[in-house]
Amino acid sequence: DGDTVDTDVLIVGSGPAGASAALFLSTLGVPNIMITKYRWTANTPRAHITNQRTMEIFRDVGIEDQVLAEATPHEMIGDTVFCTSIAGEEIGRILTWGNHPARHADYELASPSLNCDIPQTYLEPILVKNATMRGTQTRFSTEYLSHVQHPDHVDVTVLDRLTGRTQVIRAKYLIGADGARSKVAADIDLSMVGQMDIAGSMNITFTADLEKLVGHRPSVLYWVIQPGSNIGGIGAGLVRMVRPWNEWLIVWGFDIDQGVPEVTEADALQIVRNLIGDPGLEAEITGISLWGNNEQYATRLQSGRVFCAGDAVHKHPPSNGLGSNTSIQDSYNLAWKLAAVLNGTAGEELLETYTAERAPVARQIVTRANQSGREFGELFSALGLEPGQTEEEMTAAIAARKDATPAGAERRRQVKAAMELKNYEFNAHGVELGQRYTSSAVVDDGREPTPNPRDPELYYEPCTDPGVRLPHAWVGNCIEKSSTHDLAPYSRFTLITGTTGAAWEDAARTVSDRLGVDVTTVVIGPDRDITDLYFDWDRVRGIAEDGAILVRPDTHIAWRVETLPSDPAGDLETALTAVLSRE
Ligand code: FDA
Repeated sequence: DGDTVDTDVLIVGSGPAGASAALFLSTLGVPNIMITKYRWTANTPRAHITNQRTMEIFRDVGIEDQVLAEATPHEMIGDTVFCTSIAGEEIGRILTWGNHPARHADYELASPSLNCDIPQTYLEPILVKNATMRGTQTRFSTEYLSHVQHPDHVDVTVLDRLTGRTQVIRAKYLIGADGARSKVAADIDLSMVGQMDIAGSMNITFTADLEKLVGHRPSVLYWVIQPGSNIGGIGAGLVRMVRPWNEWLIVWGFDIDQGVPEVTEADALQIVRNLIGDPGLEAEITGISLWGNNEQYATRLQSGRVFCAGDAVHKHPPSNGLGSNTSIQDSYNLAWKLAAVLNGTAGEELLETYTAERAPVARQIVTRANQSGREFGELFSALGLEPGQTEEEMTAAIAARKDATPAGAERRRQVKAAMELKNYEFNAHGVELGQRYTSSAVVDDGREPTPNPRDPELYYEPCTDPGVRLPHAWVGNCIEKSSTHDLAPYSRFTLITGTTGAAWEDAARTVSDRLGVDVTTVVIGPDRDITDLYFDWDRVRGIAEDGAILVRPDTHIAWRVETLPSDPAGDLETALTAVLSRE
């Protein structure tokens, strides 16, 4: 009905994937419109663990401080407790999210940014505000209905939910960041592997002052094993901190085969009191919602001018805290490519690398999160718990680990082993930082991949193999200290070399001019503004001092050359031409 409006990129959804896509595109100066169905952002806390990779991305686009100001900090999130109720008996604890002293160094060494906890209700407004301030046209109460692709644009029909009127938005590209039940993904018929709604969970939000019970063991996650807790996708009841220590969210399973239950406020209060272990607890129930657990991922993330990101292409339980993180990382991968194609510095084939690079990540994280959920089974069997037990049988089984008998000792050994397995959910540093891309936007240098001497899911191994994220090292001078990541901002390609590699500066200038692409050289050495302060960069750079590493806008390594070649400009041009899919 209304007049058609034009934009470069239309984004459907203002969740982590959509709002961050808008922020990244606006940061790069790409005109975009973001529409979202509701009148505001997420109305429940939802995703919360924000890993180091995501914090680095926030640092890159200048919002890390704003996020930290609203977040519960790293050191308050990781004394994860397993118990029979919050006030009751403790089965064990595991230090999580890098908070164990023996793991903390790995996290400190790997990144300029530590992880933290920020619920979606706090994060989304920061993303939306910054996107909008930088240029995004944000439209609430606006629903995506359908689209039609043309050779050089997409016509998207949207509904203004206030007036009931439809309108066509004409965009050069469309991003469907419309969540697990994505209509955009369905409309482009993305092929999915796996299933939706394999288990049912309910979220109960409530306020209650629990500081006395938890302040001495600060965590965002308190796992409660009680009768009924092995139903549902997560495997145990979860009391999750939303704000320390008086805003909470309980996740409790239900049997999805029995249909969707009716949960009253009185039922919810009963569940809260049971899990806290205080029959008279003063608590105010602030919300009840039901959701399905999924194990599904897309194998293609694009059809022509339409892309999907976030839960639209990977659907999984909250285990490992990967949902919002991966969604933001998808958009970070996609936005610079769209910008490069739109400003004419890259060929359209560059956009194909979004699927090549992110579809394997979708598969990996869906698999990891579901496996982590299932691995709770080990703890249940270690505790002697079986489906169908009565409350008395269950209590007796849990108590059997106290017996001064060989059987009791075996139980204790099994409980310890089951808890150790949970490192794959709560300290999976390699999963979070070790993503390695293979695509035409990465030039293979023919060297063997750097081996990881430790478990690659638990441990991140820094290296500069093409396709991996640039390793972090602190560099700088007597006035300033920066991360190597700070040297390689989202707005450009960065070529990193050392003192004897200064010839790369001319080479990069020549190639920049020839291709019209910003390639800025950073020389790290004592003759320059940026010195290898702790000699850490020397340890991880994986090339000789006069070699070079070409870093993409998204801080992944595009190309690496071991020593200064005879024609650095020629070699750099060949590499960049390939990376950007130019003729
Ligand atoms: P997300 O679902 O966040 O956003 C989708 C966006 O699309 C919304 O802005 C919506 O309004 C919009 N939209 C949808 N259809 C539209 C249409 N037709 N037109 C216009 N806009 C449309 N994760 C976790 O780690 N821990 C947790 O505890 C939870 N809990 C949780 C609870 C509930 C109820 C949900 C729904 C999800 C979770 N999650 C979670 C998952 C987590 O929230 C999820 O991984 C991220 O939000 C994914 O971000 P996206 O931006 O991809 O989708």
